[in-house]
Amino acid sequence: MADENRIDKKSQQGEWSSRFAFILAATGSAVGLGNIWKFPYITGENGGGAFVLVYLLCVLLIGIPLMMAEIMLGRRSKENPVHTMELLTAEANADKNWHYLGWMGIAAGFLILSYYSVIAGWSTAYVFKAFFGSFSGASPSEVKALFDDFVASPMSLIFWHTVFMLATMIIVARGIEKGFEKSVGLLMPGLFALMILLVGYAMTTDGYFKGLDFLFKPDFSKLTADSVLVAMGQAFFSLSLGMGAIMCYGSYLPKDVSIAKASMIIAGADTVVALLAGIAIFPIVFSNGLEPNSGPGLVFETLPLAFGNMFGGWLFGVLFFIALVFAALSSSISLVEPAVAWLIENKGFSREKACLWSGLVAWVLGLGTVFSFNAWKNVKLFERNFFELIDYLTANLMLPIGGFCIAVFAGWIMKQEHSKEELDLPGEHLSFQVWKFLVSYIAPAAVFLVFLNVVGVL
Ligand code: TRP
Repeated sequence: MADENRIDKKSQQGEWSSRFAFILAATGSAVGLGNIWKFPYITGENGGGAFVLVYLLCVLLIGIPLMMAEIMLGRRSKENPVHTMELLTAEANADKNWHYLGWMGIAAGFLILSYYSVIAGWSTAYVFKAFFGSFSGASPSEVKALFDDFVASPMSLIFWHTVFMLATMIIVARGIEKGFEKSVGLLMPGLFALMILLVGYAMTTDGYFKGLDFLFKPDFSKLTADSVLVAMGQAFFSLSLGMGAIMCYGSYLPKDVSIAKASMIIAGADTVVALLAGIAIFPIVFSNGLEPNSGPGLVFETLPLAFGNMFGGWLFGVLFFIALVFAALSSSISLVEPAVAWLIENKGFSREKACLWSGLVAWVLGLGTVFSFNAWKNVKLFERNFFELIDYLTANLMLPIGGFCIAVFAGWIMKQEHSKEELDLPGEHLSFQVWKFLVSYIAPAAVFLVFLNVVGVL
C-alpha cells in the first residue's frame, strides 16, 4: 500500500530536473536573511570571533552530516515530512511516535515564516528606499534615523509584510518546477557578486582590519553558554535544518545524485555568503563608530552607508536589496513547503487552497513580530519580546531538538543497509563511517551538552 502510494505521489509531485536544479533550490533555501541579516547581528551581539568559530564547527560537525541525513530520509520516502517519518518508521519497525517530529517541523516552519516575512518586508521596503535615493550621502545618524522611523510605524511594516507573504504564496501556489527553479537560478549569482562588491568597499574603509579582527580573532572570554546555543541554533537556521525543509526538497531528488557532495556544496555556499556578509558589515561598523551589538537593525544601519558613499552606489543598492528579497523568497518558500505538501497529500487540499490557509496563519502570527518593534517593544516574557521569543523558541530550541531527533533516527533507527544504499557511500568506506559516527554520536551529544550547559547543569 505504502509503495503504491509512493509511486503515485512521486509522479504527482514531479522531480528536480537535474542535480544542479536541486542544489540551486536547496542553496536557495539555505542562503537568505539568515546569512545576511541574522548572522552579522547575532555575531555582533555575541562578541565576534569565538562565536564565529563555534558556528563554523557546528556547520562542519553537525550541519553537514544532518543535511545528508535529512536529504536521505526525504529521498527514501518521497513524501512530506510527517508522512516521511510514518513510512520510514514502518520500514524500520520503529515506534509510531516518530511522526510527531514531522509535526514539530511544520510548526517550526510556520513560526519562522511569520517573522521571516516581516524582516523580508523590511528588505522589500529598502529596495524602494534605495531607489528613491534615501541613502545618497547619508551620515550614520541619518541612516539610523531612517531605520528607526521605519520600524516605528506598524502600518508600513504590516504593508510590506503583506506584500512579501503574498509573493511567497503566489510562488508556492504555482508548483515546484515552475515556481522555484527560475527565480532562484537568476538571483543567487547576482547576490554573490554584490556581496563581493561590498567586501571590496569594506576594504577601502579604515575599519577593515578592525572588522576582520572582530570576526576572526576569537576571544573566548566573550563566549557564554547561551552564545554557544545561539551559534548552534544559527547553524541549523542558516542551513535550513531541523524542521524538514531540506527533507521535503530531498523528496523530489532523483536517485542518482550524490547526497554527500550536494550537502557539501550547499553548506559551503551558505557559509561563504554568511562570512562575506560579516566581512562587508563589520568594517563599516567600526569605521563609522557604530556598535556591533545594535541588534536586528544592524544590516539596515550599515549597508546603506556603503551604498550612499560608493561609486555607483544607487544602482548597486537597488540591485542588492532586490537580490536580498529574492534570496529571502527562495528561503520562505521552503518554510511553508512541508505544510503545503502535507495539506495537499493528507487533507486533499488543492495547492491554491493549501497556500491560502498557510499564508493566512503565518501572516497573522507575523503581526506579533511587527508590534515587537514598536507598540509591544517592551512587552516581555522571560526578558524577551514576542519576536525574540519566537526566534529563541524556533532557532534555539525547536530546530536543535528536531535535528537531534533526525540524527538519532538516521543513526540509530533506520536500518544501516538503507542508509548505505541511499547515501551510496560504500559501507566499509571511511566516508560512510565518518558520517555514521557524526550523525549517531557527535550531533546528538553536541545538542544535548549545549542544552545542559544552558540550563546550568554543566
Ligand atoms: N536558511 C534560511 C536563511 O538562512 C531560512 C530558512 C529557510 C530556514 N528554510 C528553513 C530555517 C528551514 C530553518 C528551517 O535565511
